[in-house]
Amino acid sequence: ALQQTRAYHPKVIDHYQNPRNVGSLNKNLPNVGTGLVGAPACGDVMRLQIQVNDETGVIEDVKFKTFGCGSAIASSSYVTELVRGKTLEEAGKIKNSVIAKELSLPPVKLHCSMLAEDAIKSAIKDYTSKRRVTLGPEAGAK
Ligand code: FES
Ligand code: FES
Repeated sequence: ALQQTRAYHPKVIDHYQNPRNVGSLNKNLPNVGTGLVGAPACGDVMRLQIQVNDETGVIEDVKFKTFGCGSAIASSSYVTELVRGKTLEEAGKIKNSVIAKELSLPPVKLHCSMLAEDAIKSAIKDYTSKRRVTLGPEAGAK
């Protein structure tokens, strides 16, 4: 096991051993968006949820659960740290390359960080579509 963990960057190990923001938010709340994505390459699954301030569009809380490899867990943990306090627009621009760079992921693990990018995008999409249903097409117009 020691030899295997050695292949990982210390930042991956840190997020893997002390993942930030693990858990769930109530997906039935109107201001919670849930993203559930899977990686076809390996079958790993990631769920990421955001709680958004309807007035400001700022992500105030975020939780994840990942059933997957160490890099996928580390990627989701890191992305929760990145998006907290960001607006939906900013969070939607996060690229997997930023995650992969921070965690020094090797090329074969790039799809693990892609999963985290997909998960945040999917959570934003869910929130946005729920909000449209609740408030109608003028939602957000001031
Ligand atoms: Fe199964 Fe990532 S390949 S955990
Ligand atoms: Fe598939 Fe990491 S090996 S998500």
